[in-house]
Amino acid sequence: MKLWSGRFTKATDRLTEDFNASIAFDARMYRQDIAGSIAHAKMLARQGIIKATEKDMIVKALEEIREELEEGQLEFTVEAEDVHMNIETFLINKIGEVGKKLHTARSRNDQVALDIRLYLRDEIHEIRELILTLQETLLDLAKEHLTTIMPGYTHMQKAQPISLAHHLMAYFEMLRRDLERLDDTFKRLNYMPLGSCALAGTGFNLDREFVKQELNFDYITRNSLDGVSDRDFALEFCSFASILMMHLSRFSEEIILWSSEEFSFIDLDDAFSTGSSIMPQKKNPDLAELVRGKTGRVYGDLITLLTLMKSLPLAYNKDMQEDKEALFDAVDTVKKSLLVFAPMLRTAKFNQERMAKAARGGFTNATDLADYLVNKGMAFRDAHAVVGQAVLYCIENKLVLEELDISTYQEFSPLITEDVYKYLDVLECVNRRKVPGGPAPEVVTRALEAAGAWIRSVKDVQRK
Ligand code: ARG
Repeated sequence: MKLWSGRFTKATDRLTEDFNASIAFDARMYRQDIAGSIAHAKMLARQGIIKATEKDMIVKALEEIREELEEGQLEFTVEAEDVHMNIETFLINKIGEVGKKLHTARSRNDQVALDIRLYLRDEIHEIRELILTLQETLLDLAKEHLTTIMPGYTHMQKAQPISLAHHLMAYFEMLRRDLERLDDTFKRLNYMPLGSCALAGTGFNLDREFVKQELNFDYITRNSLDGVSDRDFALEFCSFASILMMHLSRFSEEIILWSSEEFSFIDLDDAFSTGSSIMPQKKNPDLAELVRGKTGRVYGDLITLLTLMKSLPLAYNKDMQEDKEALFDAVDTVKKSLLVFAPMLRTAKFNQERMAKAARGGFTNATDLADYLVNKGMAFRDAHAVVGQAVLYCIENKLVLEELDISTYQEFSPLITEDVYKYLDVLECVNRRKVPGGPAPEVVTRALEAAGAWIRSVKDVQRK
C-alpha cells in the first residue's frame, strides 16, 4: 500500500509506478535521508511533538536500517517510489505505529531539498580534495621543470619561449579559481530547508535552528516556498563543474597534441594509455580524450538543469525530480576525471630536448631581438620592422636568427653587435622575463612558493 493512498480508489498503474519512481537513482542519497530523519526526530521530541521514547525507537530503527542497507540486507522497491518513502516504509515495517509519526511537520519536498544539499556537500568535500591533489601534482612537476624550455603558442603558432613549469602553473591558476568557485557554491548551498514542509511551513512549533546545528548547516532557509523549490546550488555546482571540465579539456587537448609524433613533447605512461585493436604500433591518449569528451556531458548536465528550472512556477513541481540524474552525472564525471588526471600527469615523461629544440626553431626569440634594439635606443615600432626584415631574410635563406652572422645583422641595423647571440639564446629569453607573472625561473620559483602556501591555507579551512 502506498503511503499516500488514502484518497485513491484504484491501484497505481504499473506504467505510472515505473514512470513516477526515482528510487533507481535517488537511492544513492539514503545516508543523507536517514541523517535528516534522525535530526528531525530529535527535534520533534525536544519540542514535545513526539515522546522521547518514540524518538529513541525511531532513531535506533533508522540506524539499523542504515546498517542493513549498507550490508545489502534491505532492498528498495519501485512500489515505494523514492528513497524517502522507501526508508519510511522500512521504518514503519520495523516499529509500526511509532514509525508513522516521523513524517510529522515534514514533506518530501523539504526532505528532498535537504537530502540533495547534504549529498552535494559531501561530494563537494571530496571534489575539493581531488582538485587539491591535482594542484599538488602540478606543483611537483613545475618544480622539476623550471628550466625546461618550450615554445609558447598563440594561434597554435610558435610565439615566445616559456618554461614547462610556467605552462603547468597556468593550469594551477585555473584550478585555483575552480576551487574558489566550488567554495562559493558551498556558501549558498549550506542552508537548511527542513521546516519549509510542502511549501507553506507548518503550524507545529519546530526548532529549525536545532536541526540546522545537528546537520552542520550555516543557516536556515529564509522562505518556505524558496526553501523547497530552490535548485540554484545544483546549477552553481554544474556551472563550476562545466568550467572545471573546460579547463581539464583544454589541458587534455594539449596532452593529446603533445603526445603526437609530430610534437613528441610528452610520453604518457603505458599504465595510463591504451592500444588499438587493429594497429599494433598504437599507443593512444584515451584518458585525455575521454576527459575532453566527457566535458560535453557535464555541459549537458548544466543545460538540463537550466532548462528544467526555467519555467517552473513556485513551489515544488515533479519536474524537479529530474534534477538528480544530471547533478549526479556531473558529480561522477568530475570526480572520475580528476581522479585519472593527476596520476596520468604524474607518470608522464616530458621530452625536454624535443621541447627545447622546438623553442629554438621557430623565431620564438624575434620579440627579444626587437627588445634588444629598444634597449640600444631604437623605438619599438621601428625595431619591430627591422626584425621583420631579418626574419624574412632568414626564411628566404633557411636560417634562424641565431645563425645570422654579425655583418648581415649590421646591414639590418648597426646597433646589433656581438652580444646579440647571448641575448637571443632561448634560455636567456626566458630568464629575463622577470615581470611579475612571467616565466623567469626565479619568478616561477616564487610563484611556486606562494602556490604551496595557498594550498596549505585552503587545506586549513577544510570543510566538515
Ligand atoms: N522523489 C521526489 C523528488 O525527487 C521527492 C519529492 C516528491 N514530492 C512530491 N510531492 N511528489 O523530487
